[in-house]
Amino acid sequence: MNTSENRLVVVSNRLPIVIEEEDGDWRLKPGTGGLVTALAPVLRNRGGIWIGWPGITEEEELDLDRILATSTKDSGYSLKPVLLTSEERDKFYCGFSNEVIWPLFHDLQGYCNFDPNYWAVYERVNRKFANAIARYAGKDDFVWVHDYHLMNVAKELNQMGKTFKTGFFLHIPFPPLDIFLKLPWRFQILHALLEYDLIGFQTLRDRRNFVQCIKALIKGIVIRGKGQVATARFENRDIRFGTFPIGIDFHNFAMDAAKPDVADKAWYIHEDLPKSKLILGVDRLDYTKGIPYKLRAFENALERYPDLHNQVRLIQIVVPSREDIPKYQALKLDIEHLVGEINGKYTQSGWVPVHYLFRSLEKTELLAYYRTAEVAMVTPLKDGMNLVAMEYCASSLEDGILILSEFAGAAAQLQRGALLVNPYDIENMADAIHQAFHMAQNERLLRMRKLRRAIRNRNIFRWVDSFLRAAIAKNLDNFPLLEDYFPEKDMNGIP
Ligand code: F6P
Repeated sequence: MNTSENRLVVVSNRLPIVIEEEDGDWRLKPGTGGLVTALAPVLRNRGGIWIGWPGITEEEELDLDRILATSTKDSGYSLKPVLLTSEERDKFYCGFSNEVIWPLFHDLQGYCNFDPNYWAVYERVNRKFANAIARYAGKDDFVWVHDYHLMNVAKELNQMGKTFKTGFFLHIPFPPLDIFLKLPWRFQILHALLEYDLIGFQTLRDRRNFVQCIKALIKGIVIRGKGQVATARFENRDIRFGTFPIGIDFHNFAMDAAKPDVADKAWYIHEDLPKSKLILGVDRLDYTKGIPYKLRAFENALERYPDLHNQVRLIQIVVPSREDIPKYQALKLDIEHLVGEINGKYTQSGWVPVHYLFRSLEKTELLAYYRTAEVAMVTPLKDGMNLVAMEYCASSLEDGILILSEFAGAAAQLQRGALLVNPYDIENMADAIHQAFHMAQNERLLRMRKLRRAIRNRNIFRWVDSFLRAAIAKNLDNFPLLEDYFPEKDMNGIP
């Protein structure tokens, strides 16, 4: 066991890498997400490790030590794998995490599969992660656990008698009480969360829901404080909880999007789709992203506003994800059916209204789409935050327009610049498309300036910093508030 003091131990379901087969050999590619960008410098400076699942199963029998050794050398911190069996992959990752918690926490209880066999495997895998932490972490390290796959980890550590300081950040929404109550394991999950020392949520909405749930379901809990970070007194412990809206590395996106190779690609995209404004959608294949509703709204706009014909195109990029789960396969077919229907109805010579891409894009290509699209439509049915909305604003034209769902966590910060819509209201979204199409340039510039300012200020580095400070602060009285966010700004700007 490594005993160097006060390191950061990051624990997430996935390691920040991708293992790919290339010419018969397995190669490692660095992860590109915001989390790794933000945490890598802290891990390097403080020294630290990242524990997670490399995305392959035990049965695949890869020489992981060899593969991961190169990455450790390159990144300056070490990656420690937790391997899952294929049964664990099915029942912990696809099952409990993505067929129970994921849909329920996004208020989509009709999508849940409350299979009673999933829970025991969820517990078992969380224990596996706790064992890995116990093995690799030193007693004074801070253990920062991420997301809904690993809500039981602190409980497992405590049961093993390990006294690490622990923090947990929930990247997805926390549901309201009446939805949370449906969870057959509602008491176990709340009790498990209360074993962390600090619990972080994306928005006030999520934190309020959590408070309602613990007040209703946990006897004897006392809540104190109203600031960014408050405490819950339970069984002679103070558990801190707070709101820490995640962000992006604004400057990195802005700088990369301005590079000549991106500019060239952006120019070609528009040149190939001439004489029309481009509306961009970039979503992971997921029913929470509201893609069919967005397509219906675009169709509705074409139906009700003939001035849009030949003048706008929707470029919908769908990034493959969780394709082993039946609901995701069904969604793909649904999207493809809708795209075919709309194009069949409206295409004219020289104008195909919906351009549909089903694949992941390299960063340069993605930035080129961000940069060239006049409008972005980010309309999830519910979302923890949604970083695509922020990436578009950081990378796009100075007068780009963001149409944003009220139910994305990002709406709390971006409500002053975006056109907010209810993603279930197809006519309201169609109207927003029409409004965006006709918006005067000075209003577009003004809105985008507000959006960029908000994203620049509340960036990913500030998120890491405020979470870690909340974990170590001796006294919460002086803990700074997110001044433009607290206390009165509520519920994502919904009237
Ligand atoms: O938003 C939650 C999240 O788990 C992200 O952390 C991740 O990028 C995304 O969903 C996709 O998750 P996965 O492919 O690991 O299921």
